[in-house]
Amino acid sequence: MNTRVLTGITTSGTPHLGNYAGAIRPAIQASEQPGVDAFFFLADYHALIKTTEDPERVARSRLEIAATWLAAGLDPERVTFYRQSDIPEIPELCWLLTCVTPKGLMNRAHAYKAAVDQNTEKGIEPDDGVSMGLFSYPVLMAADILLFNAHKVPVGRDQIQHLEMARDIAQRFNHLYGDEYFVLPEVVIAEEVATLPGLDGRKMSKSYNNTIPLFEGGASALRSAVMRIVTDSRQPGEPKDAENSHLYTLYRAFASAEASASFRQALEAGMGWGDAKQALCDLLERDLAAMRERYVELMARPERIEEILMAGAEKARKLAVPFMARLRHAVGLRRLEAVRQSAPAKAGKKQASRGARFVSFRDESGSFRFRLLAQDGEELLCSIAYADPKQAGAVMRSLQSAPVSLRAEGLGYAAMVNGATVAHGPDRADEATRDAAMTRTSDALAALAAAQE
Ligand code: TRP
Repeated sequence: MNTRVLTGITTSGTPHLGNYAGAIRPAIQASEQPGVDAFFFLADYHALIKTTEDPERVARSRLEIAATWLAAGLDPERVTFYRQSDIPEIPELCWLLTCVTPKGLMNRAHAYKAAVDQNTEKGIEPDDGVSMGLFSYPVLMAADILLFNAHKVPVGRDQIQHLEMARDIAQRFNHLYGDEYFVLPEVVIAEEVATLPGLDGRKMSKSYNNTIPLFEGGASALRSAVMRIVTDSRQPGEPKDAENSHLYTLYRAFASAEASASFRQALEAGMGWGDAKQALCDLLERDLAAMRERYVELMARPERIEEILMAGAEKARKLAVPFMARLRHAVGLRRLEAVRQSAPAKAGKKQASRGARFVSFRDESGSFRFRLLAQDGEELLCSIAYADPKQAGAVMRSLQSAPVSLRAEGLGYAAMVNGATVAHGPDRADEATRDAAMTRTSDALAALAAAQE
């Protein structure tokens, strides 16, 4: 199975050069690796947590960020690229997870604690201005990740705790409902990706007001920002300290090793800051001009972006819908005919099993086996081989009385009783079909069990 890499981008701003070098570019590169299935989504529900007072800003940011990622080379055929708010299974899963998340765990979340600390310092109510959205932010993030069983989640350092919480919540759910429903996601911190310095040398960030725009404002906005990069006062002809100049750091983030080395030598040999800024502009233009053109085209055709995102949502939901069906079943939100009747059901008994049935047979080696067939004859399970027909019969009965757990195995699945694998479901065409077959299998077993009582 391919490695699933998933990350979300909160849609609360306009991407700048630092976002591009630190997040967008490495993510797109990672998505092009062989053996990787990438899931990138616009975390627009998360945006509502920070930006309740400005719906226009959220709306505009969704468009700008989608256009930026596409212009930067994200291939929506290859990557599953969607909006969080187009996947109703995310908030649905969020609720199931909320119900297994200890409140105490959320009390420890950094973002919430920081808000409480600030309030306490000011001598006001600890929870002043704290919404339930902010408080349960990590649960929503866990739902984003766990719904797609992501293996790796590339994020910034500030998100490490959220990933730990997602693992914690996943483990609780798996434990409570007795199966490996969720993969435990791993955080990936891209150490080698330099956080770009901004105009003043501090980390480039909207909150420091020191950003270089990526596409907005065109070439002239980019140029005028570069011209405002703070340098020391050494004159042309004086040697510059390249290593300690953030202009050089910015240059390096976009140039080849050789080009960086010669830029550095030129600075050390006395290149003036004006010329250095011009060189940086040329370098950035070389990389960004074609992307900016695509960006402008995309921004002029929002309906095209809307289409791409809706196609992405459809792709994502092919996985999310059957998996959610399985999870609903796990927590007890089941079809009513699958309910175990505590009072002996009279006439309903047969019907309750909805026609699923066990069929015994001897295989070519003479061993005893059985199959579980759905009403339409679809094979749901085939048992392992037993030398003794009585043993095969006992296992068949145990599938209708003991708790059975189903576990995905490649495109097939295994049925386990008391930790031992007793039967397998055949390989299906893809994971979504397999997950749906697993749901049908557990429904059928539950119905047969109910009919026994
Ligand atoms: N909270 C993340 C941030 O602010 C964005 C995000 C939301 C995310 N859901 C996610 C990142 C799931 C990775 C996986 O950066």
